Amino acid sequence: MIIGIPKEIKSHENRVSVTPGGVNELHKNGHTILVETQAGAASGFSDQDYQQAGAVIRQTAAAVWADAEMIVKVKEPIESEYSLARPGQTIFTYFHFASNQTLTQAMIDSHAICIAYETVELADRSLPLLIPMSEVAGRMAIQQGARYLEKPVMGRGILLGGVPGVPPGNVLILGAGIVGVQAAKMAAGLGAHVTIMDVNAQRLRHVNDILPPHVITMFSSEYNIRQILPLQDLVVGAVLIPGAKAPHLITRDMLPLMRPGSVVVDVAVDQGGCIETCKPTTHENPTFIVDGVVHYCVANMPGAVPYTSTLALTNCTLPYIIKLANKGWQQACNDHADLSKGLNIIHGQIAHREVANAFGLEYAGEYDFTLQA
Ligand SMILES: NC(=O)c1ccc[n+]([C@@H]2O[C@H](COP(=O)([O-])OP(=O)(O)OC[C@H]3O[C@@H](n4cnc5c(N)ncnc54)[C@H](O)[C@@H]3O)[C@@H](O)[C@H]2O)c1
Repeated sequence: MIIGIPKEIKSHENRVSVTPGGVNELHKNGHTILVETQAGAASGFSDQDYQQAGAVIRQTAAAVWADAEMIVKVKEPIESEYSLARPGQTIFTYFHFASNQTLTQAMIDSHAICIAYETVELADRSLPLLIPMSEVAGRMAIQQGARYLEKPVMGRGILLGGVPGVPPGNVLILGAGIVGVQAAKMAAGLGAHVTIMDVNAQRLRHVNDILPPHVITMFSSEYNIRQILPLQDLVVGAVLIPGAKAPHLITRDMLPLMRPGSVVVDVAVDQGGCIETCKPTTHENPTFIVDGVVHYCVANMPGAVPYTSTLALTNCTLPYIIKLANKGWQQACNDHADLSKGLNIIHGQIAHREVANAFGLEYAGEYDFTLQA
């Protein structure tokens, strides 16, 4: 198969969809890989790295899209890319269709086969191509929180780990899912006092089993949050209710309970945030202050560490890319139920119920693999 890897052109996107290591694997499987020049530059991979792994470098995005039978990207196509998609071409990337009607219509019109990373789903209902970015964001939350506790950036002037004779800082993590557990692990590693809350007792048992004893688990309730909030130096928002806006666990009136210079990092800001005073920020302007509390609410945290994020993402996407390349999308999706959940739009028809519902469009039903498209 001819596989195309265009350079990401969405603002501030520095990741690339396949690493030179991934190209090497695809090449060994007998495929031709077209890489747009400089596609990997922001992630630390040169054109020469790709060529040595077996790729052919193309000078423009159009030259990649024109010949590729499958395009592998990171972010959804943006407007200038819509017209490059071709009927029957497979496009494998994050799409997030339900939040973008223009994109949805453009991909319907293109008659391409759109397989979305974010809806690939394992039998246990976990989302294997979202997990790596949550892992990155969870670990980064503590790194950023520790930084913004420093005085020159308006923090309290606290070293999270303390020093001999000086107690460490207090960290409260709301949500014990992927983001929360990774944040707890990092904070505990620094020596901070960590409290992690969830409404799911199973998650709290899991945390209790795997993290050190100085990580305290606590049931999440307004009462418990109000009790311990005044002592916290750093609060991480890591709550998710699938398909819904995040609940506001720290409301506007609770903020004055925190000391000036404390920090909140609301990772859940992409779902509305679980701290009421949060609103999305960017890497250029990551923080703002309300009632003396520093708010960090970057909606695309992994974008700041493209090298790590690219490797984390491609470790998980590559096995699926190889299946799609070796078998073609129909056979690959027929053989692998997790991958078939990623099918969103097929030859102009919506094959994912939530996407159709989001815009009141016709849902064509799950793809019938007995039919040859
Ligand atoms: N900002 C970013 O760059 C970025 C990156 C990755 C993920 N995220 C977001 O981070 C959030 C968390 O993602 P995740 O992968 O950890 O989700 P997850 O499903 O693994 O974990 C969410 C946890 O929240 C818990 N929860 C639900 N209601 C709660 C409540 N009232 N109190 C406490 N806990 C509650 C759930 O039981 C679950 O354990 C999501 O909104 C995700 O989109 C943001």
